Amino acid sequence: MKREPEAPMSNNPQLDAEGQLRHLLTIEGLPAPILTQILDTADSFVSVTEREVKKVPLLRGKTVFNLFFEPSTRTRTTFEIAAKRLSADVINLNVSTSSQTKGETLLDTVANLSAMHADMFVVRHAQSGAPHLIARHVAPEIHVINAGDGRHAHPTQALLDMYTIRHYKKDFRALRVAIVGDVLHSRVARSQIHALTTLGVPEVRVIAPGTLLPSQVEHLGVHVYHDMAQGLKDVDVLLMLRLQNERMQGALLPSPQEYFKNYGLTPEKLALARPDAIVMHPGPMNRGVEIDSAVADGHQSVILPQVTFGIAVRMAVMSILAGN
Ligand code: CP
Repeated sequence: MKREPEAPMSNNPQLDAEGQLRHLLTIEGLPAPILTQILDTADSFVSVTEREVKKVPLLRGKTVFNLFFEPSTRTRTTFEIAAKRLSADVINLNVSTSSQTKGETLLDTVANLSAMHADMFVVRHAQSGAPHLIARHVAPEIHVINAGDGRHAHPTQALLDMYTIRHYKKDFRALRVAIVGDVLHSRVARSQIHALTTLGVPEVRVIAPGTLLPSQVEHLGVHVYHDMAQGLKDVDVLLMLRLQNERMQGALLPSPQEYFKNYGLTPEKLALARPDAIVMHPGPMNRGVEIDSAVADGHQSVILPQVTFGIAVRMAVMSILAGN
């Protein structure tokens, strides 16, 4: 399937007039050289994270605000670790005790934090487009990173996934990749699809019941499967997705047990993929729903290395935005 042409650089609100990254809001429309620049920069930070002294001074004197309006374990903490390893000052806004509870608007909150000389906002929000809204209103020297908005995008998750795939499989142009599960409600899947197709993966599959796929998903350049036996055949990389129950409206599935029977990744189903296939999951996992513990904890799982690589990838994004 042919991809839609990418937006011209000048129309991309994430890029400045020279085509350099100013905000990271979505993978969609970012050219391959920028994605590769982030992955290559992350390479250099992996070695930093393995040193005894894990700090570099690239963001010394800068202030990073973590604004998480939705729960998070991995993204929030790895952004905090990444910013601290770059020597930034990090403020985690506690949304539940912030003045948002008194009716302050998102933009007023951001304006007040900007008045405290914020340099970067890392934003997770249940509302798709919230980080874009903030990016449109901040001063030109402030950078915004989308840490997951609604079902729209989760660009740093997709980038750490691409880093993990490149680490284990080396060449994107020789891979079959399957994304399995609740694509309909997944911001991760959308960002993964854009990243995989931009980086030249020749075959991206999505495997899910029809009720968990967006209409016309094939227009994103993926091959659609409803059957695990067919969809997993000969794949190199499996990207598992969580059932996003918090975003489901109405009964889209008979039951979690039925879903596990048909789409849960068990050792038997994994055996349909290539013997050296890797299994990934962005977390949080629902064991016994989309993935069996024998697979999640098995030798083909790279789920925990994904988390570790996330620190270096987020360091790379922040240092590039800060102009290093
Ligand atoms: N993958 C991911 O976004 O996990 P968290 O919700 O824990 O940040």
